[in-house]
Amino acid sequence: MAGTTAPFAKKTFGVTIEKLCKSFARVPVLKDVSLEVKPGEIFVIMGPSGSGKSVLLRHIAGLELPTSGRVRIGDFDPSDPATRQQIRLAMVFQAGALFNSLTVYDNLALYLREHRLGSEGQIRERVMHALQILSLEKAALQFPAALSGGMKKRVAIARALVTGPQLLLYDEPTSELDPVMSATITEVIAALRDQTSVTTIVVSHDRDLALSIADRMAIIIDGRIRATGVIADFAHPADPDIANFLKPTIDLKNPRFKQLENDHE
Ligand SMILES: Nc1ncnc2c1ncn2[C@@H]1O[C@H](COP(=O)(O)OP(=O)(O)OP(=O)(O)O)[C@@H](O)[C@H]1O
Ligand SMILES: [Mg+2]
Repeated sequence: MAGTTAPFAKKTFGVTIEKLCKSFARVPVLKDVSLEVKPGEIFVIMGPSGSGKSVLLRHIAGLELPTSGRVRIGDFDPSDPATRQQIRLAMVFQAGALFNSLTVYDNLALYLREHRLGSEGQIRERVMHALQILSLEKAALQFPAALSGGMKKRVAIARALVTGPQLLLYDEPTSELDPVMSATITEVIAALRDQTSVTTIVVSHDRDLALSIADRMAIIIDGRIRATGVIADFAHPADPDIANFLKPTIDLKNPRFKQLENDHE
């Protein structure tokens, strides 16, 4: 990880979310979400599938417009093209969102080339450096279709790094990875923050990731923030939904699908 600071800006931003509501076709998905992420912290958002985590992250990235409420990165509105230019944010998408027709190298170089952020030599240096951080040098000339799920995830992270972000958003960075690769990615996320102070928001189901690197964590259930706090606050949750989410019991004598069948009778 030596030298990972190079492409990063010193300035970082906090994120403020105030009373954010989002509906799709009048169906509410985010309900009165308020959060404060401090500059330079690792903030992990956990919650069951379908609870609105990716939609929330897309609002922070400025990819969705709130139905009501607001999102601010520092003083900037991420969805306003006029002020969006003031922040360098990068998002690692849940499904990678790589361009299949481009090699790994060209996927990483694309943004830098389009924005003319250096000569081809300088771009090469940044791209190779990001690939090196994620142990991907040998994959530089491969196409995404030839990569494993874990490699695609790492390419998506490497692509986020080359932009020198001041705010890094990760959507499920360790899903579909084996335990060792999950631990590696978790270490990369933490090391990048430690070395560059980049404000980091991670949406994840991965308890090990949250417990090992989150400065603070929020749990979102059915579009609402149920709890926010430091990790120690979640050691013995009083809320049964949070307890069930963080430490689900496996009961073979009374399995959940049987309970669902009974509910429908
Ligand atoms: N563009 C959209 N149009 C309509 N509904 C949407 C759209 N995007 C998300 N939704 C709905 O919003 C809800 C929350 O979706 P979201 O992707 O945020 O869940 P999630 O918490 O990220 O789940 P997972 O853990 O499975 O990734 C879902 O019911 C989903 O169907
Ligand atoms: Mg999601």
